Amino acid sequence: MKSWPELEKQYYLGVFKRAPMTLVRGRGTRVWDADGKEYLDFVAGIAVNSLGHCHPVVVKALAAQAQALIHTSNLYYTIPQLRLAELLVKHSCLDKVFFTNSGAEAVEGCLKVARKYGKEKLNGAYEIICAQGAFHGRTMGTLAATGNPKYSEPFQPLPGGFVHVPYGDVDAIKKATSAKSCAVLLEPIQGEGGVNVPRDGYLKEVRRWCDQRGMLLMLDEVQTGIGRTGYLFGYEHDGAEPDVMALAKGLGSGLPIGAFLVKERAAVLVPGDHGSTFAGSPLMCAGSHAALKYIIGRRLPARARDLGKYLMGKLTALREEFPYIVEVRGRGLLVALEFNGELAQRAVSAAWEEGLLVNPVKPTALRFAPPLTVTRRELDSGVQRLRRALQKVAASK
Ligand SMILES: Cc1ncc(COP(=O)(O)O)c(C=O)c1O
Repeated sequence: MKSWPELEKQYYLGVFKRAPMTLVRGRGTRVWDADGKEYLDFVAGIAVNSLGHCHPVVVKALAAQAQALIHTSNLYYTIPQLRLAELLVKHSCLDKVFFTNSGAEAVEGCLKVARKYGKEKLNGAYEIICAQGAFHGRTMGTLAATGNPKYSEPFQPLPGGFVHVPYGDVDAIKKATSAKSCAVLLEPIQGEGGVNVPRDGYLKEVRRWCDQRGMLLMLDEVQTGIGRTGYLFGYEHDGAEPDVMALAKGLGSGLPIGAFLVKERAAVLVPGDHGSTFAGSPLMCAGSHAALKYIIGRRLPARARDLGKYLMGKLTALREEFPYIVEVRGRGLLVALEFNGELAQRAVSAAWEEGLLVNPVKPTALRFAPPLTVTRRELDSGVQRLRRALQKVAASK
């Protein structure tokens, strides 16, 4: 019989560089592979499983909804969709929601809002100012917004109308603004770019500039949203409210669901402008509603804030033993550890041996995004496993 990696090679499009384990089961912060080996999971489906693996509230809501109604299309009203939209609006600064099936689709929706807003309210302005080092997804529009040839080079030409400026630099946004500009699109923290945290006040200053120019401020909170950085939404750190916001990842605690939300003044899409067959299905919305209600009710964003500080303290303490760690940065439970060289993949491989899943967000940096439900004891154990892994890396240097 062929091994799982052999089957993958034969049948699956070879776009993923996979870790050498086949995961079959998960519970909380732990997963098990097909050989029965247990791992502490500090990747959490790339900052997705906010309640860990197979949380009972999500499983129960999914099972109940699966018995009642799984899919209808958006030709009809369905109750879980409306309940989830209400919950999101009540707990955010935005007014209207559209559900999607992924993060990229959520950002695509934002791009369409910006284009239509520019056409209707800014004399046909269409250009969107984005940041260098951003990541917004893999569709043609979001690749253009991402603006990184590493992801987009083979797929040129991409849609036009995007300009890229250094992240964290308000003057650069001001200089890039012209009569053609309709919106600024930013991540509150650049996740895939390496967990790049901007200085305090950055988003607030961008907000002010957008107000002066009548442009939309659009925040891609696909990675930072739903409690990950210590507040329900990343924009709360600076108190800079977006006009448009994209969500996904943590929203369904493992379910494929995203959303874009708009303030009333940016609610420009009308019947016929947008749609999706699967998006906002009763099944995904019921599971996501249960997850979000739990996250809000149990105050998990504040928990992430405290535990993030605890984790960063523990990781920073490793610098004494391993001077090749040059920085620990992040907010809440979105944390990176930077090396003074391209050691991330070696550290990740050594961590697998020790039973810890982390991921190399850059060749020089590890990312930690454990579930918001992770315990102190699990963080201690994860850091101990990492320590043993780094000892191996140090020994092989
Ligand atoms: C900030 C941000 N936006 C968009 C995306 C794309 O999301 P998805 O992979 O669900 O399409 C990601 C994925 O990593 C992301 O981090």
